Amino acid sequence: MADPVGLLLVGCGRISAAHLGALAGLEGEIRLAGVADADQGARHRAAAAHAVPAFADLDEALAMPGVDAVLIASPNALHAAQAAAALAAGKHVLVEKPLAETGAEASALADLAQARGLVLAAGHTFRHNEAVAELVRRMPQWGALHAVEVSACVFWDGPQAPWWAARTPAEGLILSLFAPHSLDFVQLVMGQDDPLRVHAETARWQSGWRAEDEAMILLRYPGRRMASIHISYNQRSVFDRKVLHFARGVAEIADGEFLTWNGEVLVSPPPGIIDDARRMGGRRLDHFFRQQLRAFVAAIRGQPNLCPTGRDAARLIDLLDRVKAAARDSMG
Ligand SMILES: NC(=O)c1ccc[n+]([C@@H]2O[C@H](COP(=O)([O-])OP(=O)(O)OC[C@H]3O[C@@H](n4cnc5c(N)ncnc54)[C@H](O)[C@@H]3O)[C@@H](O)[C@H]2O)c1
Repeated sequence: MADPVGLLLVGCGRISAAHLGALAGLEGEIRLAGVADADQGARHRAAAAHAVPAFADLDEALAMPGVDAVLIASPNALHAAQAAAALAAGKHVLVEKPLAETGAEASALADLAQARGLVLAAGHTFRHNEAVAELVRRMPQWGALHAVEVSACVFWDGPQAPWWAARTPAEGLILSLFAPHSLDFVQLVMGQDDPLRVHAETARWQSGWRAEDEAMILLRYPGRRMASIHISYNQRSVFDRKVLHFARGVAEIADGEFLTWNGEVLVSPPPGIIDDARRMGGRRLDHFFRQQLRAFVAAIRGQPNLCPTGRDAARLIDLLDRVKAAARDSMG
């Protein structure tokens, strides 16, 4: 039995709690070796809670014995440079989405990882649920995929961090923060093809921020396939659906957890996962983060990498740039 993978966590903010929580139950596979954060309070809180060393300096943290892999959960603008430093130090890397700010940066990281034989994975957490995994396994039996409809509508009562309020329409709010999850799903089911055409319309309903909080995206793929995505931060009754039209019928993923095929339930969540799917916080998400860490460890151990790679991430970032450009054009 191999030793557990030693993990350095970089960035101990909001989302780090989900990753640290996910480590519980994976003791034989992965263990926290240390944490790094520029903020003294954040790094000391995380270090004290898990009895591991805390670092202000990334290079010092990377030099610590027992670090095999790095999980980067810092602000987006730091991802590419920190991932490059970790790969250069010979560490496997899991990076919170987005992997980098540009597709070119993500591709460069993919090259670096490949040259060094290291795992580079992008943290598109929602691929790692049983409903999505089973859909991907069964899709080949269902005939040609014609169309995909994704609705991901939630409610945020104003900015969840001060910088949300400062995002400009050009930088994008919901298109930058939330659209990547839905786009990653569409890219997953569309395979290696990128869309031929991209359309987008956006709107803003809330006054607590400057950029768009509602969007509709329409994608045309090769082979007559189409996808629509509706994302919202304004829906108090949370609505989360993925509907896929195949030649032989309709597959649907409801609330991220229930997979049906022509109405027959194929996957449903274990008890305790969904309390009230219509309510923000009414679903437990920690199992997705645990599955993601499990997939990362499996890839480190030489099994196929089920996480999106640097190349997938580069394609997704390029697609997101096209969506934002289409949204700007639509506002004309
Ligand atoms: N997978 C998901 O569903 C999901 C959900 C939320 C956020 N995210 C992603 O996670 C990342 C972090 O988001 P968050 O909401 O936790 O942000 P956050 O601002 O709460 O946390 C970021 C942390 O990074 C620290 N930091 C800043 N500079 C640093 C440096 N130079 N070195 C190390 N640490 C530094 C900050 O002090 C802070 O503690 C973002 O990239 C975001 O897109 C993913």
